[in-house]
Amino acid sequence: MSPFHLTRTLPEDATGAALRADVLNGLTRTPKTLPPKWFYDALGSALFDRITELPEYYPTRAEREILLGRAAEIAAASGARTLVELGSGSSDKTRHLLDAMPGLHAYVPVDVSESALRQAGEALVAERPGLEVHALIADFTAGIRLPETPGPRLVAFLGGTIGNLVPEERAAFLTSVRALLAPGDALLLGTDLVKDEGVLVAAYDDAAGVTAAFNKNVLSVMNRELGADFDPGAFDHVAVWDAEREWIEMRLRSRTAQTVKVPALDLAVDFAAGEELRTEVSAKFRREGVKAELATAGLNLTHWWTDAEGRFALSLSVAG
Ligand code: AVJ
Repeated sequence: MSPFHLTRTLPEDATGAALRADVLNGLTRTPKTLPPKWFYDALGSALFDRITELPEYYPTRAEREILLGRAAEIAAASGARTLVELGSGSSDKTRHLLDAMPGLHAYVPVDVSESALRQAGEALVAERPGLEVHALIADFTAGIRLPETPGPRLVAFLGGTIGNLVPEERAAFLTSVRALLAPGDALLLGTDLVKDEGVLVAAYDDAAGVTAAFNKNVLSVMNRELGADFDPGAFDHVAVWDAEREWIEMRLRSRTAQTVKVPALDLAVDFAAGEELRTEVSAKFRREGVKAELATAGLNLTHWWTDAEGRFALSLSVAG
């Protein structure tokens, strides 16, 4: 049996149906919203990779610093024989962790991108003979089933992506993660931390305009996939800090009054001049809040590691 397995739990047409439902639902409500997952077509993923290299966008570097410095501690504390990674993408940042887990039996990357899973999985099995890779093509927010591999399990959800969920969604997500775990299994969670407003806003509104292009790319996704006629030049990129809810919002602000057609939905969407479409929430966290949200889902925070500047945290929590 080959040590590389690929399982699809996401129907081939699921993406198109979900996009249509999200656009119909999000563009016909007030205020208008779209879920951030639609940023990530090929161009959007490439723009995000460029964002991670911007001087203003610190989270990726801060998380890498923690992973590099703490991989051995994470491996020892979890004792994991199976590592599950939600939203694994290229599995780049997981390398540090995998290198620190020589006794690991199985790696289970979970992602919606089959090409990313194939590339990363095939490279890994070539490098690590003996390591089983069970890649899952799945939308982890929709609930997944894990292959039967030896425990203890460590589920990793890195990058601060949990911040894209609003509190109610986070509670549901953490509960579904807890359901994947047996007592003693663990969750490794990356969370960006609350900090100075100027630093946060700059990270989502960089001087080179890469984040603006990333934000506007969702309009091109709707043009291509739904035949819409959004003019990206007719919208401005906006990043604001909501101090009460402690999250960054990215928005697209209509420069003029305009009507946009979305033929695939048989829909015409009116924008007033200055009207904003919310495209992303990126929540920032504090230790006490993370600990409480984990506890509500039945996960007990045991470790909290930050980078030297205290900008980003990795937490380890154990299922009770
Ligand atoms: C990939 C979700 C962690 O929220 O910081 C980067 C996405 N948005 N710049 C984040 C993003 C704007 C990013 N996450």
